[in-house]
Amino acid sequence: MPATDPSRRPLVLVGYRGTGKTSLAKLLAQRLGWDWMDADVELERRAGKTIRQIFQEEGEPAFRDLESAVLTDLMEQKEIVVATGGGVVIRSENREVLGRARHVIWLTASAETILARMQEDQTTADRRPQLTQLPPTEEVQQLLAEREPLYREVSQWEVCTEGKTPRQVADEIFQRLDLPPAPPESN
Ligand code: S3P
Repeated sequence: MPATDPSRRPLVLVGYRGTGKTSLAKLLAQRLGWDWMDADVELERRAGKTIRQIFQEEGEPAFRDLESAVLTDLMEQKEIVVATGGGVVIRSENREVLGRARHVIWLTASAETILARMQEDQTTADRRPQLTQLPPTEEVQQLLAEREPLYREVSQWEVCTEGKTPRQVADEIFQRLDLPPAPPESN
């Protein structure tokens, strides 16, 4: 059962690949004194293989089944910030489960920024298999167009990450949650 006290229910970040969900989940959790979890990391831990291997060996539907199972379990937890995979909103059952969150925050960026961030990110090759037969730019444009209405449907608010550091985005969210900005980082 989800936490009965709504303020202790999971805080969930959704958005396309490369919108900074994981970095932000860490910062938000630190500030709230909560746990955090990257749903893709938990999925890979349970499967004992990388997302790329799951796609190659079992296909995308098998990956999506695991993704739904992980999401459902994480949504049962209290005081946790969850960074979801970019395609979590595709399945209607997941969109329904996301309704149990304290807040679902949608992180956005332009297709150009997403592509640039994905090219810089070392995890791209293992964690982000190709999702269509399209070249990368077209894939991002097409999937963003398909998914934007779904991110909008599940989220209570949208935060543009364009040109901002994760800390700046986190501060914006703290403000909205009525929390003071994060203290300076210590080494
Ligand atoms: C996916 C995004 C990835 C990962 C998988 C599928 C998608 O997560 O779940 O490769 O469908 O957009 P990130 O958004 O964390 O890269």
